[in-house]
Amino acid sequence: MTIKRFFLTVSVLLAGLSAYAQDLRIDDLGNRNVIVRVNDLSKKYLLLPVQEDVPESGVFVTVNGVAEPVRNVRLAVDRVDYMVPLSLEPYKDCTVALDIHIGDGHRRTDVIKDICWEKMHLSDEFSLENIEKYRPVFHHTPQYGWMNDPNGMFYKDGVYHLYYQFNPYGSMWGNMHWGHSSSTDLVHWEHHPVAIAPDQWGTIFSGSAVVDKNNTSGFGENAVVAMYTSCSLTQKQSIAYSLDGGMTYTKYAGNPVVQAPQECRDPKVFWNEEAGCWNCVLVSPLEYEAWFYTSPDLKNWTKQGEFGGHGNTSAIWECPDLFKLTDPVSGDSKWVLLININPGGPAGGSATQYFVGDFDGKNFVCDTAPEVVNWLDYGKDHYATVTWSHAPEGRTMAIAWMSNWQYANQLPTRQFRSANSLARDLTLAKTSDGTYRVCVLPSPEMEVLRTGKPLVTSFSAGKNGRSVALPSELCEIDVKFTAKKGSKLTFRLSNDQGEYVDLVYDGKSYVFDRAKSGATDFSQDFAVPTTAPASESVEQNVRMIMDVSSIEMFDGKGWWAMTNLVYPSVPYNKLEVISENGTSRVKSLKIYSLTLN
Ligand code: FRU
Repeated sequence: MTIKRFFLTVSVLLAGLSAYAQDLRIDDLGNRNVIVRVNDLSKKYLLLPVQEDVPESGVFVTVNGVAEPVRNVRLAVDRVDYMVPLSLEPYKDCTVALDIHIGDGHRRTDVIKDICWEKMHLSDEFSLENIEKYRPVFHHTPQYGWMNDPNGMFYKDGVYHLYYQFNPYGSMWGNMHWGHSSSTDLVHWEHHPVAIAPDQWGTIFSGSAVVDKNNTSGFGENAVVAMYTSCSLTQKQSIAYSLDGGMTYTKYAGNPVVQAPQECRDPKVFWNEEAGCWNCVLVSPLEYEAWFYTSPDLKNWTKQGEFGGHGNTSAIWECPDLFKLTDPVSGDSKWVLLININPGGPAGGSATQYFVGDFDGKNFVCDTAPEVVNWLDYGKDHYATVTWSHAPEGRTMAIAWMSNWQYANQLPTRQFRSANSLARDLTLAKTSDGTYRVCVLPSPEMEVLRTGKPLVTSFSAGKNGRSVALPSELCEIDVKFTAKKGSKLTFRLSNDQGEYVDLVYDGKSYVFDRAKSGATDFSQDFAVPTTAPASESVEQNVRMIMDVSSIEMFDGKGWWAMTNLVYPSVPYNKLEVISENGTSRVKSLKIYSLTLN
């Protein structure tokens, strides 16, 4: 199709849409290349129509003739799932055109017939009002678009900063930016503009941030320095600094600061008091290794050691973390190396494993044999766990991405995809065999959500079950019980549509089954049971925290955690406790209603 013929086609197509035709001039250059000239820059946004099941098109925004890094957008072909905003505010008084290369795949060749050209428009509005019934209330979610790993978390002046892998141009993975939110209590989240956007070195993959209190970098006193992976055809590490407490970042002119001959990513930086230097741990995903670096100034890095051949090495290693924990009972300190792996998790797909050992600033030596695998959480929806830098009162606080790469892109939401877990406190405890393990409990900050008096009851449960009404889809269940040897105790959460999830205790383990939980058909990997080994105590204590579409379960002392998503068609409103092969004693059942005030 020649350009001229295209214009004729467009004037027919666009009859009656003259405002649109004047603001945007759309030229089909042929060969799947379309130019959209933005003639009116008085509006805030150019809204782009997205259809999730079509291939991405490459959108190059050219500003005064210079192309910005590509944005990949699933421009709608024959159906519009939702719109995404391209902010025009940075381009006032510029000449702006979009050079669009239509994605290959199933698209037709006469791309100008695609619905996106008709629906694309300028606007001052992009609504952020929630339209998703499955959006959690007190868990962090992006206002719109896609989110995966938590990044760059640091605590400063009473504020928890949380950055995250963010796609502002669709609710599926792509175009990695660092989105930014903050909170003073870990349950109310304030949303901020994108903190770090793609540049000439690539998109912005995961990483961490520290406050450089002593200005070792020379960027300025108390500069926040973020280190992340720049991903293009290769992966290298870059830094950016913020002089306004993490709100805006300037990229270091000397980037990249770490280069390696093979893929390596997700830098976790911390100040090592004993070694008197900065440490960074990176993963070499395909070699199942963690690499350790030192630096005096966050700019110049030297590789010191490697760790591998331990734990689960069946799949890629990602998002490492390394921190010291002290056992409050013995006073012993140990280093903990977190390695997120994908797939290969205990119930398939993504999960977080950890190693306990010693670290001298250069090498990590693991306490346990190579075949030992420790999981930080046994659920299917707990990945990319990392900790906050400078957490208050010497605490070690982590947060995970509540999803799994097996189905993350298919979850049944559209306006946004994925939430973070609740913040969790990590502590060290000695097990009966003398080894150390990491205990996980929800950070006590979440207790502000408890509203009014909890329902408190106790009873003996038999095979006919006992049932208790749940106050709402936001609640916390705290149950202490003893079960008869050989019995099977089921905690069932159900709704009026016959949908339910079961948590079953058999004396040795807890199995969570979501096969009948509601929507599960978006992926055959979703309705798979998850299993956590129970603690050895006779009296068991389980906490379950529900927030619309997630259930986070914890042993009362943190010996195990299990995080799973659920998509019931209507909220679960009943808890049943059923004991088979013998009566069980529920010594205390507390149900708190949770509210975000
Ligand atoms: C983990 C991960 C990281 C990478 C990021 C990209 O989920 O694959 O290794 O930095 O996501 O979004």
